[in-house]
Amino acid sequence: VVDISSFYKETGMFTYDEGYTSTASCESKITYIDGAAGKLMYRGYDISYMAKEKSFLDTAYLLLNGELPTKEESKEFRIEMNKRAFVHEGIRKLYDSFPDRAHPMAILSAGVSALSTIYFNHLEINTPEEYREMANRIVAKVPTLAAMSYRYSNGMPIIYPDLDKTFTENFLYMMRAYPHKHVDLKPIEVKALDTIFTLHADHEQNASTTAVRNLASTMAHPYAAISAGIGALWGRSHGGANESVIRQLEMIGTVDKVDEFIARAKDKNDPFRLMGFGHRVYKNFDPRATILKDIRDKLMDELGISSELVAVANKIEHIALNDEYFVSRGLYPNIDFYSGLILRALKIPKEMFAVIFVIGRTPGWIAQWSELRQQKTIKIARPRQLYTGKTERTPN
Ligand code: ACO
Repeated sequence: VVDISSFYKETGMFTYDEGYTSTASCESKITYIDGAAGKLMYRGYDISYMAKEKSFLDTAYLLLNGELPTKEESKEFRIEMNKRAFVHEGIRKLYDSFPDRAHPMAILSAGVSALSTIYFNHLEINTPEEYREMANRIVAKVPTLAAMSYRYSNGMPIIYPDLDKTFTENFLYMMRAYPHKHVDLKPIEVKALDTIFTLHADHEQNASTTAVRNLASTMAHPYAAISAGIGALWGRSHGGANESVIRQLEMIGTVDKVDEFIARAKDKNDPFRLMGFGHRVYKNFDPRATILKDIRDKLMDELGISSELVAVANKIEHIALNDEYFVSRGLYPNIDFYSGLILRALKIPKEMFAVIFVIGRTPGWIAQWSELRQQKTIKIARPRQLYTGKTERTPN
């Protein structure tokens, strides 16, 4: 609490909390995190139950509707997702206008924003059916737009969704397929990616979700809000962290260099940090990382992947888990350490890592958007500031 009497005539309490580290901006019934206990729950269901027993689509249904789907609802939801996966041909024309090599996150953000030119009726959403249609539409279309963004940025022809495939199979298929060529998708690959989607589906009021909620509070179009979320997620301090993990492993290069970089990470005069270690909220362990470590091991085993990069990652992981510096500061491998390695094993290029995060996070964003918009009263997000500039000056 700060004294603002020299700046403002206002009275009452005024708090200054940079980055909102200890200020709640809303009430929510969607996601619960207990950082000290390493606990994450969606609508009361533990993340390890969701990741092991349920699919990403079940998770999306839970976040959007508040309850897990029955078998019948699950089947209907899957069919609806497939039916809604196609995008308007006008979006193709828009994509045509982007230069080759444009970043897929830039293309995706423009594509999602462009959906608001087609579904402008979503500006006025009132009934439960209208909410449902708006939410299902965006969850279904984002993977198609994401795969198109990748293919356009690489000058490849786009591939349309295949109605016989599941949600995650479809995305991998649209990424990998060449016209007239069979795509071999191994169940472990599909499970690994589906789990990554599930683990990213919501994480309460992180930076991108806060961006989405801020737009919701202004009554903006929901897809404009999702596009803002994509913009926020693009930053390397948010969705770009797993890409940084792989870049750092490539920079370290060989196992014999690991000790040198561990020493640098511990040196307080060196700004170097081990990417993929530590977390702002989880100070004991990141429950999502524990699940992904298991999946990474199975995937590497089944695909028979062993490379110098994997050996470097394994050595860093082993040292950090046993080193006093890392252990005493609660610096454990986080979700990005393992997701980066899994996505690389799935042959997904680094510039697509944040796009994968978007696909997973979309149900969370839209659930948060809907939660705010269905409140009885909506207060526009309008934080205050602590003015530190000049006091009133006399013009010359
Ligand atoms: N490597 C080496 N030392 C580290 C690391 C690291 N990755 N992370 C923290 N430390 C040290 C700090 O130097 C500090 O040491 P000190 O107490 O001797 O001064 C101590 O651990 C605490 O660090 P803080 O920066 O205060 O921790 P904070 O909670 O603010 O930061 C963060 C968390 C940003 C994730 C940090 O651990 C980090 O930079 N990690 C690497 C980047 C990364 O992996 N980001 C992804 C996070 S997960 C996600 O966003 C989905």
